[in-house]
Amino acid sequence: MSGIALLHGPNLNLLGTRETHIYGAMTLDAINAAVITAAAPAHEVRPFQSNHEGALIDAIHDARSWAAGIVINPGAFTHYSYALRDAISSVKLPTVEVHLSNIHAREEFRHKSVLAPVCIGQICGFGWRSYLLGLQALIDHLQDRTNA
Ligand code: DQA
Repeated sequence: MSGIALLHGPNLNLLGTRETHIYGAMTLDAINAAVITAAAPAHEVRPFQSNHEGALIDAIHDARSWAAGIVINPGAFTHYSYALRDAISSVKLPTVEVHLSNIHAREEFRHKSVLAPVCIGQICGFGWRSYLLGLQALIDHLQDRTNA
């Protein structure tokens, strides 16, 4: 069984009540439960949410000791956090960036992700299912690496 870190950035603790016309009605707990179930029994998913950049950086560093990869929705940090970007490139764990909304169809400032270049890929626009798609992409990537 390999570990997968499921990281959520700022304001995502409010899912279920926050701008539901954009982000949907599913709570963060329900999303976490769906991802944990989808990954089991082959992978152990450990979810973590923080509104603080440093706490997310610590979680990325910590993942080195137990995880094979990361699925992250960095929230608004996506668009400007060079510190999160450096954390991801430093730990060298394959990382999938996910977003509930289609960031490319929204305000201009959301079109740019400073994290995307250090991630293996980005999935956005599929609501809470973006997380399931991101998980599957990471698992397939890990499997391909094992078979290579
Ligand atoms: C988000 C998109 C970001 O632009 C925004 O700041 C969020 C959520 C998404 O999942 O669609 O907090 O990451």
